Amino acid sequence: MDFDGDFSLWQRKIAESLEGTARRLAVLEALSIKTGQAILDLGCGGGHLVRDIALAVGDSGRAVGLDASADQLDAANAHCTGLDSVELIEGSASDMAFEDGSFDALASIQMLEYIVDVDAALAETRRVLKTGGKAVLISVLWDHWRFHGPDPDLNDRMHEIWRGHCPHQMLPFEMTARLGAAGFDGVVQKPLAFINNTMHENAFARWAARLVAAFAIGKGIDKDDSALWLDQLAMADSENRFGFVSVPVLTTAVAV
Ligand SMILES: C[S@@+](CC[C@H](N)C(=O)[O-])C[C@H]1O[C@@H](n2cnc3c(N)ncnc32)[C@H](O)[C@@H]1O
Repeated sequence: MDFDGDFSLWQRKIAESLEGTARRLAVLEALSIKTGQAILDLGCGGGHLVRDIALAVGDSGRAVGLDASADQLDAANAHCTGLDSVELIEGSASDMAFEDGSFDALASIQMLEYIVDVDAALAETRRVLKTGGKAVLISVLWDHWRFHGPDPDLNDRMHEIWRGHCPHQMLPFEMTARLGAAGFDGVVQKPLAFINNTMHENAFARWAARLVAAFAIGKGIDKDDSALWLDQLAMADSENRFGFVSVPVLTTAVAV
């Protein structure tokens, strides 16, 4: 899935939401940042984590964001204005233009599951980290990511199509083996599960629903059915019977 145009905007709304902020704070806590460190954010999106990292490492450090989307990087540039330690780079996580051992630590929030050859990206992740450096990675258990839409048939169809938005549905359960093969040890996992039972302006589900609805059009769902699904969710919200669940998993590992 490309994160350009409206998808880029909605993705940033998700990053800024209460739940997006909570998962970013979990990553920052796991990174245990020290002043002057060099830290990479893979798939940095709109730069929210890069900005937080820059504020922590200070002017003597490096807060580097890498993303494949020019639209996301434009937004990240604007978000990180005035922070000298920030470097934003367009590129692929599978083939990075950094020297071996460039970073003290590395983070990535909901990016690895979009890469077909995820092992190549993990090998690159290990290569650019110093030995002893920590990787802090969040991926989602997509089989359990679900809106509770009032019309079960339409709701099931929307979720079935959404499965096509990324190639790895259950990556967290594969991470221990994959990280071991890539040269990491000491894997620890922590669930960051949450529910939304309203779609207020700063709820993760409000913006995630727009992503799903737009993604589905032309893939077995027409514009009218996509709009109908959104209307049904809004009605459920107004009647206090809305529900959404997500299970992101935070994985930490050490480069050996
Ligand atoms: C769901 S967004 C998450 C953005 C950000 N980490 C956040 O939490 O707000 C996924 C991001 O990964 C980027 N991305 C996808 N595939 C990539 C790749 N192969 N290399 C680098 N970035 C990639 C997308 O452009 C997008 O910005």
